[in-house]
Amino acid sequence: MDKLIVEGGCHLKGTVRASGAKNAALPIMAAALLAESPSRIEGVPHLRDISSMIELLKALGAQAAWDGPDAIVIDPSTVSHQVAPYEIVSTMRASICVLGPLLARYGRAKVSHPGGCVIGPRPVDLHIKGLQELGAHIRVDHGYIVARAERLEGAEVFLGGTCGSSVLATANTLMAATLAKGETVIECAACEPEVVDLADFLSKMGAKISGAGSPRIEVKGVARLSGARHRIIPDRIEAGTYLLAGAMTGGDVTVAGGQPAHLAALIDVLRQAEISVGHKRDKVWVKGGRPRAVNVATHPFPGFPTDLQAQIMALMTIADGISVITEKIYPDRFMHVSELLRMGAYIIREGPRAIVQGGAKLSGAQVMASDLRASAALVLAGLVAKGKTEIHRVYHLDRGYDRLEKKLENLGARVWREQE
Ligand code: EPZ
Repeated sequence: MDKLIVEGGCHLKGTVRASGAKNAALPIMAAALLAESPSRIEGVPHLRDISSMIELLKALGAQAAWDGPDAIVIDPSTVSHQVAPYEIVSTMRASICVLGPLLARYGRAKVSHPGGCVIGPRPVDLHIKGLQELGAHIRVDHGYIVARAERLEGAEVFLGGTCGSSVLATANTLMAATLAKGETVIECAACEPEVVDLADFLSKMGAKISGAGSPRIEVKGVARLSGARHRIIPDRIEAGTYLLAGAMTGGDVTVAGGQPAHLAALIDVLRQAEISVGHKRDKVWVKGGRPRAVNVATHPFPGFPTDLQAQIMALMTIADGISVITEKIYPDRFMHVSELLRMGAYIIREGPRAIVQGGAKLSGAQVMASDLRASAALVLAGLVAKGKTEIHRVYHLDRGYDRLEKKLENLGARVWREQE
């Protein structure tokens, strides 16, 4: 196992290019299973989760391989069975998004129940509800979701749950609806840019979809879909993480290749924190100053993303004033709090919210990464902490950040990887 060493005290400066969005690439790779011919997906980031999805597609019998520096070719014509095994699904929850495509294309699917993870219970009731509304017979048996359907039938589906919309339940239902007989309307659909990117790919395959990006998506089922060529949108969470790294260090950082419209909530919070932020075409930049405390609550898109909650908390630990951070998507998503406390932050956890007393003088420490985004928050804190921070179990970071230490080093950070 590797660990990451971060030496504090640098002011980041320069431009970093956003990679393709992990959370767009994963469902899009699964959607390639719906076609009768190969797809070529470009702008794919080099991440552990992408490798896991390639492994899953191959386990189903499909052919999937890198073709050049950032493209993956998927040929679904050799799919030989429809079982997504526990060994792979348990390492990557997003494997659940092969359920809809396999069911729609082959009339059956058996996917290991993804279970929970450190950010909280990760139910799949909305995935099951969406597919049942389309006519699937689904049961959970010995830890597997077992689904059957002669032919899926279009329907009106409401996908709102206790925390609002669901990104991957929307993705699964949308993918299944493309081959269902008749029309489907998905109400309370997730509006995330990654859902829009999936719909764009499905449309290139021949699907008839309107309303993606809004809470109401309409789908007219078609008989078959063909493979297509598609370039993944930039990763807004990665981009936001680097903007926060710039803000943390009072630096001057530009993220290129992003889509500012995907970052409106973060840009608003940074401006409230009196950080100078600007954007033009595909560039967003921050010019660090002394951040002021801001209250933040996470919401489905276009609200403040839960995947940036840990990172904004890192910034609030050094801001002037007291901030309240409320997690409305995953109320337990605070694994980073205990590690930030070890670095000298002042944070009180109260259920789904954390009260952060800013102005901390962080000091480097040995800390433990726990999940993808919490790990990023520890790197950000390490950039401003006095001395060295050693982040253990850095494989969590490798799941979602493409060459993180390289990109930070290019911005002037002193960060490197060592064997545990
Ligand atoms: C996606 O997960 C992302 N993952 C997550 O990013 C992200 O945090 C999350 O959306 C929210 O934006 C991928 O896209 C691969 P949800 P997903 O279903 O779709 C509840 C990262 O760091 N819910 O939108 O699994 C759920 O408990 C990862 O990249 C149900 O109640 O999340 C949560 O409270 C972490 N029933 C809320 O909905 C369901 O059937 C939103 O979850 C499904 C979800």
